[in-house]
Amino acid sequence: MKRRTPTAVFISGRGSNMEALLRASQSPAYSAEIVAVMSNRPDAKGLETARAYGIEAMSFDHRQFATREAFEQVVDGYCRDRQVEIIACAGFMRVMTEGFAARWLGRMINIHPSLLPSYRGLDTHARALTEGVRIHGCTVHFVTGDLDAGPIIAQAAVPVFEHDTVHTLAQRVLVQEHVLYPLVLDWVASGAVTLQSNKVSYAFPPPDEFEPLFSPSASR
Ligand code: GRF
Repeated sequence: MKRRTPTAVFISGRGSNMEALLRASQSPAYSAEIVAVMSNRPDAKGLETARAYGIEAMSFDHRQFATREAFEQVVDGYCRDRQVEIIACAGFMRVMTEGFAARWLGRMINIHPSLLPSYRGLDTHARALTEGVRIHGCTVHFVTGDLDAGPIIAQAAVPVFEHDTVHTLAQRVLVQEHVLYPLVLDWVASGAVTLQSNKVSYAFPPPDEFEPLFSPSASR
């Protein structure tokens, strides 16, 4: 039987990306086995969703810890006790210290709702609309000590339409997040994508042909 890499998903809220990962990991062919879901917020809706999938879901309220390091030590121990090899952050709203990021370097990934390096941080969709960009999207990257600045593994782009609101744009991006994140976790968990000297290395060949993405379409 195929070896599946024990993986923890970190969340802070709704958990729709977590659910996309849980759904993908139900296939025995998927390379990651999600063994735990951890939230820094006890009221995160995603905790219930994870339990409904039969996954152990735990919260460690960061406000109960005196320091970031104390919080991270408990989280680290929780993962180690479960032999976790990969951490997938999915709407996890806690910035981790350099120390934690270094300990998990190459083994911790995150999904961010913008085409990085544009719009690091919060309110990405509102900022994209304010700037008037015509293409927006999402990024999965390795986590480093620099917020939303780790090596990029993959991105998905969507068009921005004239009458978009934050809500319509966020929805369009979210649909792609739910496609992109399960793909990338599978690649990382299988070892097809690795971090080598701070660069992302792919064990699969690049495509022979590619389709450029125009928004608005160039064919009018
Ligand atoms: C997603 O847009 C994710 O990219 C960002 O926070 C949002 C979390 O949504 N980091 P959900 O909790 O996965 O539904």
